[in-house]
Amino acid sequence: DDAGFIEIETPILGKSTPEGARDYLVPSRVKNGSFFALPQSPQIYKQLLMVSGYDRYFQITKCFRDEDLRADRQPEFTQIDLEMSFVECEDVMSVTEGFLVRVFKEAMGMDIELPIRRIPYAEAMERYGSDKPDLRFGMELKNITDVASKIDFVVFNTAIENGGSVRAIVIPNGSSMTRKEIDALGEVCKTYKAKGMAWLVPSAEPRGSFLKFLTPDDIAAIKDAMGATEEDIICIVADKKKVVWDALGNLRIAAANKLGLIKEGDFKLCWVTEFPMFEYSEEEGRYMAMHHPFTCPKLDQLNLLDVDPLLVRADAYDIVINGYEAGGGSIRIHDSELQNKIFEVLQLTPEEIRTRFGFFIDAFKYGAPPHGGLAFGLDRLCMLLVGTDDIRQVIAFPKNQNAQCVMSEAPTTIDEKQLAELSGYWNEYKLEAVSDLIRLERIRTFTNDLKGT
Ligand code: AMO
Repeated sequence: DDAGFIEIETPILGKSTPEGARDYLVPSRVKNGSFFALPQSPQIYKQLLMVSGYDRYFQITKCFRDEDLRADRQPEFTQIDLEMSFVECEDVMSVTEGFLVRVFKEAMGMDIELPIRRIPYAEAMERYGSDKPDLRFGMELKNITDVASKIDFVVFNTAIENGGSVRAIVIPNGSSMTRKEIDALGEVCKTYKAKGMAWLVPSAEPRGSFLKFLTPDDIAAIKDAMGATEEDIICIVADKKKVVWDALGNLRIAAANKLGLIKEGDFKLCWVTEFPMFEYSEEEGRYMAMHHPFTCPKLDQLNLLDVDPLLVRADAYDIVINGYEAGGGSIRIHDSELQNKIFEVLQLTPEEIRTRFGFFIDAFKYGAPPHGGLAFGLDRLCMLLVGTDDIRQVIAFPKNQNAQCVMSEAPTTIDEKQLAELSGYWNEYKLEAVSDLIRLERIRTFTNDLKGT
């Protein structure tokens, strides 16, 4: 409010917007066979508000996403959503930082240091194996592909031949870990699709899972490359880059938790910037927007859209707190031609573009201002501030892992009459018949009950 933002509500019954998850759908009774989608976020509405001249919008709003649940995700959650026009990344980031300073001061009595550190996406992946790095502890990843390529070990050699890499982390003072504890670390890596984890304790009498393939020089080379001591354990994963990052990034967190390296009440914030515009989905066989399709690519990289979309970076930024994405946003495309081009890269046909986003692209023709914004996950922010890693602890009546409300048992089936009203197939005559059937069923149950007594 102090910064001149106007609070505007946007509809809950709307049209499908693509934030990457499945929509929750609501059938229309009046327009039989048609559906509303509950908003995954107010993204399209807030951009339309910018086009219509509201230059600073905010809203605290419910969002709905039918996606696989994790401890930090709920199917319905709340965003603090904002959008501004005539801005660049710096302006949105500065408003966000101001907001965080105030939240930390008023809710936690803590001062956070500005400016908040910025880490480009590529660096976050290289050093932490994650685009939401937890900076409360070290154990950074190192790329030891060069050293590993000189070792005659089939696991390393095959990974490298297949275009992959060999990377590792050092767990400080991990040399005393039992076999069982080390195996548990390997299991963490396997959860994230690594085939396994090689390990090495580079002490005077070295221990390790692949010692018989190592010469003393190899051991010294790995130890040097990792900057490890004799008391440490080196955990190594060889695979495609993405698998290695994922496995070691998560191993890093598991090890920090196990060793108690995370100080209670410690908050480490950072921005992750310079995200790639697209990622390639093997499953869908096409490019997907990493943030969402309205995010503006770096304007000096537009020529790369036709060369290799994966090289294009976006004007997008995430605010990360203690290894969680607390909020994310971007500068948006405000030119209908560029927006069309991005939809094309995403392999939407002109027809799909028209039916799904026609109203949106048309609005841009009336002169859209440059604009951008961000949304915080309010529940997730609360989760972080109170120091839990389970979002359900800060939500009244949360859903369980199966997206069900254990108290009311929602979602439940509905009676046939309700269902019939929503189906274009049923006419009034059939509705009558259904009502009769329901009545008959009730009589049958009643007589059965009578028989019982
Ligand atoms: P995004 O999808 O990154 O961006 O969401 C913004 C923030 O919302 C929170 N969040 C969730 N919290 C709980 N449960 C979920 N299922 C869930 N999904 C997301 C996260 C996340 O950082 N329209 C864009 C924002 C923008 O570009 O302005 C958007 O929704 O904390």
